Amino acid sequence: MVDRVFCIKVYGCQMNAYDGDRLRGAMTGLGWTESDDVMDADAVIFVTCSIRDKAEQKVISELGRFRPSWEKNRRPKVALVGCMAQRTGADLARRFPWIRVVAGPRSLGDVPALVAESMDGGLFLRLDGDPSERADLECAPVPKNNPHKAFITIAHGCDQFCSYCIVPYVRGRFASRSREDVLNEAGGLVSRGALEITLIGQNVNTYGRDFDGGGYGKRYRFADLLDDVSNIKGLMRLRFTTSHPVDFSGDILDVMKCRPNVCPGINLPVQAGSDKVLREMNRKYTRAEYLSTVEKIRAALPEVGLTTDLIVGFPGESEEEFEESVSLIEETRFDLVHTAAYSPREGTPAAARADQIERPERARRLSKINEIQSRISSEINRTQTGRVLEVLFDEAAPKGEGLLQGRTVTDKVVLVRAPAEMAGRFRPVRITGAGPWCLEGELL
Ligand code: SAH
Ligand code: SF4
Ligand code: F3S
Repeated sequence: MVDRVFCIKVYGCQMNAYDGDRLRGAMTGLGWTESDDVMDADAVIFVTCSIRDKAEQKVISELGRFRPSWEKNRRPKVALVGCMAQRTGADLARRFPWIRVVAGPRSLGDVPALVAESMDGGLFLRLDGDPSERADLECAPVPKNNPHKAFITIAHGCDQFCSYCIVPYVRGRFASRSREDVLNEAGGLVSRGALEITLIGQNVNTYGRDFDGGGYGKRYRFADLLDDVSNIKGLMRLRFTTSHPVDFSGDILDVMKCRPNVCPGINLPVQAGSDKVLREMNRKYTRAEYLSTVEKIRAALPEVGLTTDLIVGFPGESEEEFEESVSLIEETRFDLVHTAAYSPREGTPAAARADQIERPERARRLSKINEIQSRISSEINRTQTGRVLEVLFDEAAPKGEGLLQGRTVTDKVVLVRAPAEMAGRFRPVRITGAGPWCLEGELL
């Protein structure tokens, strides 16, 4: 057994959170101890994201901070893993000599051993080659802060190739995990105390399609998996993300309607409100098709929490086309919109276009749309005041004095004056106030 300390820093999406959770499980299984303090660690593992330039810049500035300590005592050693490692890790290792391990997201299974080896010196580069190959990490995830809330990746990679997006290049081909693996993992998490599980993938709705011709039968699909996982005894809340609008099929709604533990929350990224922009993004649906899917969802699940992702300032987006995104969010009234200014990603078709929108204009559009959505979110949230909602409280540090954070069934954040022992429990809460990002309430 080693007597060494590691620290994990996770950036980016929930797939990275899941990878971080599995790395935690693998490292502790090998006898390592976890610390929250990077300077306390022998090895710091960065699980990185490349989705926008900002996500990468954050990690680069963190990496710069290791210089004094490295020059003094050659500690800590850094492992750069995940999407950004795949994209630029080799260059970064030249720039920051404390990076001793570089591994792409499909080489995660090699990381624990490489980190251990790097302790004796040496530099280990494991960049993913063939996009359909993968050295997966076969280790149960160990959530850090909220053991009652777990994620399970049900499919790796993405085959959609939206024209702005780096994910298919860094994460590789879409590959569903087997039904058995997902069910075993979910069952194990629940038996160790998970009350809520989120099934994740870049497009969960196409789960199982790549099995066709494989051993699982032609018709085992996402709705079937959702149904099977929801049957696990003791699982109180089941969520999933992300749904691509093109593949959001009615059988998913059928399962959501009849399984009380499948939470009525859907993230359905729209990305743009204009048909021209949608076409150029390679999203494969029109505004009207998207809106009709929303209508179907709301007809089936009247209380649904509906969120979306939206990019402003895509190359060539005119003012009128931007206004179509504005009118789409005004019409649809999402509970929450994850907005982003378009960020050119080298190697994607959109980044090669000559008609890029200037950065200040992208920023103007972003703040305009944020302002509008923040008003809409506040209005929607205010309709919740006076209601009594069931809240599952988080384990994480209280937000401000005596305040604990929890989530409603539609995944809205609620701040409540509550003792820390409430963490990991369900309680009815009366909603007393609301802002754009969260509700406030009191324990009943
Ligand atoms: N698979 C999911 C989300 C993946 S990435 C989907 O298809 O929606 C999360 C979000 O990041 C995307 O929904 C998109 O809104 C945003 N995003 C992706 N690439 C981007 C880029 N180049 N610039 C700005 N935002 C981007
Ligand atoms: Fe990126 Fe599109 Fe895949 Fe989502 S569906 S990860 S936006 S390529
Ligand atoms: Fe980022 Fe990779 Fe996720 S680019 S959003 S960490 S798939």
